[in-house]
Amino acid sequence: MITISNPQFGDEELNLLREVLESGIVAQGPKVAQFEEEFASLCGTKYAIATSSGTTALHLALLAHGIGPGDEVITSPFTFIASANSVLFTGAEPRFVDIHADTFNIAPELVEAAITPRTKAIMPVHLYGLMADMDPIMELAERYGLAVIEDAAQAHGATYKGRPAGSFGTGCFSLYATKNMTSAEGGMVTTDDPAVAEQVRLLRAHGSRVRYHHDMLGYNFRLTDLHAAVGLAQIRKLERFNAARQANAEYLNRHLHRVITPCEPPGHKHVWHQYTVRATNFDRDQAIEALKQAGVGAAIFYPIPVYRQQVYLDRGYTDSLPTTEEVTRQVFSLPIHPALTQADLETIVAAVESL
Ligand SMILES: Cc1ncc(COP(=O)(O)O)c(C=O)c1O
Repeated sequence: MITISNPQFGDEELNLLREVLESGIVAQGPKVAQFEEEFASLCGTKYAIATSSGTTALHLALLAHGIGPGDEVITSPFTFIASANSVLFTGAEPRFVDIHADTFNIAPELVEAAITPRTKAIMPVHLYGLMADMDPIMELAERYGLAVIEDAAQAHGATYKGRPAGSFGTGCFSLYATKNMTSAEGGMVTTDDPAVAEQVRLLRAHGSRVRYHHDMLGYNFRLTDLHAAVGLAQIRKLERFNAARQANAEYLNRHLHRVITPCEPPGHKHVWHQYTVRATNFDRDQAIEALKQAGVGAAIFYPIPVYRQQVYLDRGYTDSLPTTEEVTRQVFSLPIHPALTQADLETIVAAVESL
């Protein structure tokens, strides 16, 4: 079976893990600090603060911007549920804005109508490795005095007009096992703002600047040096991983005709976390079964808009956004990971073209 993801580990990860274990410092320590430095350099930001997951990165970024009960955050409903849930964790409410079907990202021209006196932030999600259209989002944020929290969980190394994901607003990354680079579990917050960086650092470790002195209510959302060891080895391979994904995407874009293939709009560098196509003239669920029979592991990211998840129905959400509704019925993702061989790509093309 050609799996939908296939994390790549080697001697680099093993050597750094051994170093950490032999050092005896396995919780947050020097490897986390080094990982943060290299991650900040990837994003071109002054600071990067490691956390225990992408979800905790988002949660702490929102808290660091002072978002809480009574506030609203505008985001996409076509995403992993953690994007919106991080808003709920703070006591604020996500407000959902529809997407574009070709980029799968929030439609900037619809954002302004969703801004209310309670709106405190816009949270674009850079879905599948393609950054949202940031110029109009930054312009609106500036005009209305809103924070921008980028959910860059799937966009390590992606750029928009040459600027890296995570360098526009406060960036939040996931380092989960299937991402373009991983630390098994983990997250990262990126920012140029020293006050935001300081708040995230405090919130991640029980609100403590000096050991056993607690200035505010905080959490234990730290990353460990064991995870940072894996993350450090991976960040040094990210460019190579992303180039392989890009080459695989180019091949599939050239050879697939049975489905609507994904786009890379001008000015964007897509890092192809997922290669997601749309089925408009056949039954998607049957197609996924047929692909499985042909040895191709396809998957649906995401079959249900966030606002129709039970968590949101229970809170009284009644949204029904037309493009999101349509796209959730059509999308499926094909393997695109760096370990694919030419034979794998040919198998994928043959399987899709015979649907
Ligand atoms: C768009 C998006 N946001 C947030 C997250 C949450 O990250 P994590 O799983 O590391 O908590 C993910 C992870 O899958 C994601 O894809």
